[in-house]
Amino acid sequence: MQIESPADAAPAAQPAAAAAAAKQPIPLPARLGHILSLDDFERAARRHLPAPVFAYISGAVERNHTLRANAASFEQYEFLPRMLVDISRRTTAATVLGKRWSAPFGMAPMGISALSAYRGDLVLAQAAARENVPMIMSGSSLIRLEEIVSANPDAWFQAYLPGDEANIRALIERVKAAGYGTLVITVDASIASNRENNVRAGFSTPMRPGLSLAWQGITHPRWLFGTFLRTIAVHGMPHFENNYARRGAPILSANVQRDFSDRGHLNWDHLRMIRGLWPGQLVVKGILDPRDARLAVDCGADGIIVSNHGGRQLDGTVPPLRMLPQVVAACPQVPVMIDSGFRRGTDVLKALALGAKFVFVGRPFNYAASVAGEDGVRKAIGLLREEVSRNMAMLGVNTLAELDATYLLPAARN
Ligand code: GLV
Repeated sequence: MQIESPADAAPAAQPAAAAAAAKQPIPLPARLGHILSLDDFERAARRHLPAPVFAYISGAVERNHTLRANAASFEQYEFLPRMLVDISRRTTAATVLGKRWSAPFGMAPMGISALSAYRGDLVLAQAAARENVPMIMSGSSLIRLEEIVSANPDAWFQAYLPGDEANIRALIERVKAAGYGTLVITVDASIASNRENNVRAGFSTPMRPGLSLAWQGITHPRWLFGTFLRTIAVHGMPHFENNYARRGAPILSANVQRDFSDRGHLNWDHLRMIRGLWPGQLVVKGILDPRDARLAVDCGADGIIVSNHGGRQLDGTVPPLRMLPQVVAACPQVPVMIDSGFRRGTDVLKALALGAKFVFVGRPFNYAASVAGEDGVRKAIGLLREEVSRNMAMLGVNTLAELDATYLLPAARN
């Protein structure tokens, strides 16, 4: 039996050199030899990163209800596999928004990745380009968006809407001029959420210098020298570069306040306005209610990401997986994508069986970049893609398009 290597999944979509590189086993430092799954990257990152930085990435809000519900949502469904299907020609390739990718998953936007990993956003973008998966560049980031799209022309850009029309226009003009083809607007963060865990761990933006932060640096020397001091030595103090058309606050400062623009008044008219300004693909992220999905499509969205922000906004929110079938039914004309809590190939396949066209994964890629740079991220992509491929075989499908709700049953204990 021939099992297709995941790197063969989208031969037409990858340049030959990248396809050849993707076939090489991804080297990781010996100390990371135990990395067998995405969750293993989290354990490694917990040791590697200063506690406040790890808390920012891993944390959620208040009682962490949403965070736990996201993880538990995958257990609400069980597979019903088919047998004696010839799965020797299977492929993990998936098409979304006009491009064929090597896998049905990509990287969710993650703020300040260049604080946890040296040149974090760039590392994510380069790994995504090499492995032919989409990478969504976060608007809350410390490397200029122009640099990311020149390293990965297929990257998508995620924006929080600035609070006023002039700043919205200026940001969109900048993203357009940089050459991005896909703009993702996050709509579930109209105000800052209650991240008590960040406060308790000593994390803030900007971070405040002090004895406790210094101690965290001293006790995490690989991060201190390999990421933080190296960044400052080579690139200067990182600033928020992409929340607006102009530069924002530095990441470390004793007194500078970050300019969180008031977004509380933003509404669907602003989304309509953006549609008028943005000629490329427009994706709305952070939708849960099918009525909002319809509104987004009526405003001209080309795609929806069903998401509760990885459990980082309203605590006690329904997991996206639970709302997915209703959102898909409400807007059949656009691709419905999903994120929040995906860690396994089985998680990805359950969402695809429920109608998602694509899945985004966040924190694990950030951890992988932190502990092992681009090789770490490519390893993480490879692990997840192998899980998808292996599980497709055991389900009895050759293409992801074959998956539908007949491959799932509600878990018996529900
Ligand atoms: C940014 O999107 C965050 O959740 O911290």
